[in-house]
Amino acid sequence: MNESHLILGVDIGGTTIKAAVVDTRKGTLTTDVLRAKTPQPATPKGVVAAIGELTKKLKWHGPVGVGFPGLIKHGVVRRAPNLDPSWVRHEIVEHLRRALGVSYVAVGNDADAAGLAEARFGAGRGVRGTVVLVTLGTGIGSAVLHNGSLLPDTELGHLEVGGQDAEKFASTVARKRNKWTWEQWGKNVDRYLTTLEYMLAPDLFIIGGGVSSDPEQFFRYLENVEAKIVPATMGNDAGIVGAALFAVHGVKALARKRKRNAT
Ligand code: BGC
Repeated sequence: MNESHLILGVDIGGTTIKAAVVDTRKGTLTTDVLRAKTPQPATPKGVVAAIGELTKKLKWHGPVGVGFPGLIKHGVVRRAPNLDPSWVRHEIVEHLRRALGVSYVAVGNDADAAGLAEARFGAGRGVRGTVVLVTLGTGIGSAVLHNGSLLPDTELGHLEVGGQDAEKFASTVARKRNKWTWEQWGKNVDRYLTTLEYMLAPDLFIIGGGVSSDPEQFFRYLENVEAKIVPATMGNDAGIVGAALFAVHGVKALARKRKRNAT
């Protein structure tokens, strides 16, 4: 049986690392979600070892896709604002490939992963035009899609609005740290989304991260945004499913190459 559509998805978060095997055709999980605490400090060695443990527990040797909370270019970490600074310039793909001993590894941004998953299987399914997903968590992540295709690595959580990094006033961590009410914070999110709307004119905003399960607390304060706004619908699974999707293209290319070499 050809099982090349089964890929292990790993979501690296600031507090938890989650992993499950994903059916990338259906966008569903075929195993339970296994969790490990993100080691503190969250160094490359510690995080990769934790992913290794999860992979081992799942007895997985197939392809792996990883969602990382920072910017990665050509397999190398450029920025990881919410993890240990030693990640910067780290060759994450090579490290994981060596440490996990699996057939294939792909790594991308965590919010891009959530955006891809929501666009294909969740709140953005079938939506034409421009879709912007923002995850309002420890940091703010962004994914920009047009007719289902991702423009990767947009990093719009660090957009300066009124001279301030958006992450400092519109993330969930900022709400908790400053003990803002939902209304105070909701108005900040409104200001952030209005700025994004001015730049990108999306047809749909999807709000992801833990707050996607609390839309009744703050959606009513998003009153200056003209585009439709909906909560993400895949919850925690979005990051895992989308991470697995990162590996689909590479796995197919590898299979083609093997076939060519065999003939
Ligand atoms: C990082 C993004 C990431 C987001 C959510 C931000 O601080 O710059 O790359 O997607 O946090 O984890």
